[in-house]
Amino acid sequence: MPRAVFVTPRGEEHSVEVAAGLSLMEGARDEDIPGIIAECGGGAICGTCHVRVDPEWYALLQPSKLSETALLEAVPEGSATSRLACQIVMSERLDGIRVQIPSEQLAF
Ligand code: FES
Repeated sequence: MPRAVFVTPRGEEHSVEVAAGLSLMEGARDEDIPGIIAECGGGAICGTCHVRVDPEWYALLQPSKLSETALLEAVPEGSATSRLACQIVMSERLDGIRVQIPSEQLAF
């Protein structure tokens, strides 16, 4: 099963298995990774699953849809490699993907 590494704002690393076909957000939620709130449950409307993807992995992702791009413009601590974890679908190709969790998510 592919693995994903979540790095907390304090530098702690959580390496978790995420089944192919599940989103990165679902993998984080199932393992109680702190900082991934996922208020909307994966609907790409809350922005509280924002992560910054390490550049070498970001280049392998499917392009974001316009709605995701618009939401990412509003998230705290956004960057050029920001994505919504609920829109990253795991696959063997992404085995080892590494993402940073921001210290702050959008407030609801
Ligand atoms: S869970 Fe709401 S935008 Fe990803």
